[in-house]
Amino acid sequence: MATEKSAVFIIFGGSGDLAHRKLYPALYRLFKAGMLKDHFAVIGTARRPWSNEYFRQTVVTSLEDFDDDKRMMENFAMHFFYQSHDVNDSDHYIALKQLASKLDDRFETGRNRVYYMAIAPRFFGTVAAHIKSEDLKTDGYNRLVIEKPFGRDLKSACDLNDALSKAFTEKEIYRIDHYLGKKMVKEIPNLRQNNPKFDEILNNKYVSNVQVTLGESLGVEDRGGYYETAGALRDMVQNHIMQILGVVAMDEPEVMNAESIHEIKGGLFANLKDLTPEQVSKKFVRGQYDTDKIGKLNPYRKEDKVEEDSNIETFVAGKIEFNNERWADVPFYVRSGKRMPKKSSRIDIVFNEKVEAFGIRPNTIVTLFIEPEDGSSILINGIDYREVKQDLIKYPEDPDIFKGAREAYESLFIDILAGDKANFTLWEELKSTWKYIDVIREQWDAEDPQFPNYLSDTMGPDTADTLLEKDGNSWIWN
Ligand code: BG6
Repeated sequence: MATEKSAVFIIFGGSGDLAHRKLYPALYRLFKAGMLKDHFAVIGTARRPWSNEYFRQTVVTSLEDFDDDKRMMENFAMHFFYQSHDVNDSDHYIALKQLASKLDDRFETGRNRVYYMAIAPRFFGTVAAHIKSEDLKTDGYNRLVIEKPFGRDLKSACDLNDALSKAFTEKEIYRIDHYLGKKMVKEIPNLRQNNPKFDEILNNKYVSNVQVTLGESLGVEDRGGYYETAGALRDMVQNHIMQILGVVAMDEPEVMNAESIHEIKGGLFANLKDLTPEQVSKKFVRGQYDTDKIGKLNPYRKEDKVEEDSNIETFVAGKIEFNNERWADVPFYVRSGKRMPKKSSRIDIVFNEKVEAFGIRPNTIVTLFIEPEDGSSILINGIDYREVKQDLIKYPEDPDIFKGAREAYESLFIDILAGDKANFTLWEELKSTWKYIDVIREQWDAEDPQFPNYLSDTMGPDTADTLLEKDGNSWIWN
């Protein structure tokens, strides 16, 4: 049985989609596991004038897809309270403080607080400022959880960080990148540590190139409004792809704890090889989806809330390099796109001939599947999988790690309650990745792309293939 944790969760944006689709189901699984039991309460805040009863009903409804234990769901919902809240109104924070403090006493929560920003990013700073001015923090722990996007460029990210830092210390801020909560991504540092032979060959002597693909079959669906302000570069590369590169390419931390991991990862990002504006077109390509080949699907420009002449990219491919000794001259090809033939998040590590030294055939490819296949899948082309499992890839002792679908948010909540920041992004990391991404964005914004340039249900524009062909390489997933 899991150790019981205690806290009051204040969910800003508690009536919203993210809260109902991801946060409440994740908390419910912790409730079923006994990690949340008697000593927790959840306050949902939003503008709508809901009653506690109505709020609880919406919470139960959000769980019905996952469970049919009505009694359990209702017991869980009894820990939920609603407060109608205007983020700009100081009085509302005072009411919120009183409610939270009442619930602290009633549920004996140790006055621990998790403040969760599931609201539009433009309100992050305002809410944090009121948490400070209305003195909501307690003498328990106070953890602030921030959803992406964390800024839209380096400047706005700095402004946001300054605003948050006035109310919370870096130690108290948990910046979510939900890819870091995915089973396989989370497991990579352990996998490397448990397999010293594998880790030893992760460097420019043995690796020819690394490929990270986050491909999606869906289009922008109903998120056109947001997507028009973002595009694939900001939406997927600056955060998810960079963080995946972090866990694959970082040196081994001295100890497997958050502090060491972040120190090493921060060092890696500081070594991103700078791009000049002139290099952007040589190293990065972009695309926007058209209809599919039978003309059934909407082109991006016809999606709801999307401009008819939009130049927002729905596909990016690029070549990222690091300046450090370990990875000098090894290209990290990255790619992310909407409306690709299927959903597939994967990392392909392509070895060169020299790997033969370890008894592995030349041109070995290690593929780490993140999704949708079970995160444990590891394929090594050209050699017998079982041999690899026994020899190269030793699984961690706890078989549970790879069992069952532990949703990213559940896993991230476990970390938040444990005060473990290993799977969250630190400010220094974000600063480096925004600095890198800004060069591409600025260059692209100054040009006029020929969009749309790839059909839905294809692997993106041809230029994504040429990018690798120029180096004598090709995409492993094709
Ligand atoms: C989000 C992006 O961060 O990640 C979405 O905003 C994207 O555009 C999503 O679809 C992909 O996440 P997942 O977990 O479905 O692979």
